[in-house]
Amino acid sequence: MEVIPMTGALGAEITDIDLTSLTEAELLAVDQAFHDHLVLIFRRQSLDPASLMTLTQRFGGPGITPYLTGLPDFPDVVPIIKEADEKSPKSFGSGWHTDFTFQSEPPSRTLLYAQETPPQGGDTLFANLYLAYEQLSQGLQSFLRPLSAVHSATRSYGPKSTLQNDLENMRIGKDNAEPPEQIHPVIRAHEITQRASLWINPTYTLRFEGMTQAESEPLLKYLNEWAVQPTFMTRVQWQPGTLVMWDNRCTQHCATSDYHGHRRSMLRTTVQGPVPQKTSPSSIS
Ligand code: SIN
Repeated sequence: MEVIPMTGALGAEITDIDLTSLTEAELLAVDQAFHDHLVLIFRRQSLDPASLMTLTQRFGGPGITPYLTGLPDFPDVVPIIKEADEKSPKSFGSGWHTDFTFQSEPPSRTLLYAQETPPQGGDTLFANLYLAYEQLSQGLQSFLRPLSAVHSATRSYGPKSTLQNDLENMRIGKDNAEPPEQIHPVIRAHEITQRASLWINPTYTLRFEGMTQAESEPLLKYLNEWAVQPTFMTRVQWQPGTLVMWDNRCTQHCATSDYHGHRRSMLRTTVQGPVPQKTSPSSIS
C-alpha cells in the first residue's frame, strides 16, 4: 500500500488496498497512517452495509448512534442521503463539527462510504485540531489547558432544532426536553498519539464550564474560526466507492451543500471512543 499525503495539514490517500480483505499487517499499517494523517481516503472500494460493519468492527466496533436512524438490518449503519428533488439545498453535517461530542464517550473514528455522488460538489472539509492547538500562543495554550467545556446536542437535536425540516430523506430524531450536557476537556490528549488538540466545535460546544454563554462566546468564536483556517484544512472530493475514515479525537469536519438538484448517498458508521482526557504536562507539544 502507498500513503499519499493530500495537504501539509492532514489527509492521505491510501492506494493498493482492498478494505474487504485487510490482513493484520495492513490493518496495523493503516492505523499508523491514520495516526500520522488523521483522515484517510480509500478509492474504488466495494462495500455494502455488511462489509462496512465488518470493517467498523475491525477498527474497534460501533458506539451508540443517537438521533439518526440506521438501516433496518444494520442499525449502526446510517444512510446519509440527499435526493435530487429535495426542497432545501441544505445537506446533513454542513456546519463544522466533530461527531457526537455531546456523548460521554464520543466516537473515536467515523467511516463514511460514498454510494452515489453528484457530478460536482458535495465535498467534505476537514481541519486538524492538533495544529489548531500547537499554533496558538503559549499564553492562550496555558489559559485553555485547565479548562473544560460544556457540550450538548441541543442546537441540532434539541426541542428548538429545525434540522429535521430541511433533510427530507433522513430520519432524524429530536428531544422534546433539553438534551443532557457533557463536560469535556478543551485541550484533549489523544490516547494513542498523546498529542494535544483544541477539542471544541461550533455545533456542540455551548460554553466553558463555570462560565456563562455570554462570557464564553467571544473566545469560543475566536477559537472556532481559528481552528478551521485554510492552513489547517484539507478537502475530500468523493467518487462512488470512496471510503473516508477520520479521527474525531483531533479533527473537525463540514459537508458542503453545493449540489442542490443532485443525489448524494452515503453510508456512515462510528467507532466507540473513550472518555476524553485532559493533557498531562508530559503530553503537551
Ligand atoms: C457527517 O458530518 O458525518 C457527514 C459528512 C458528509 O456527508 O460529508
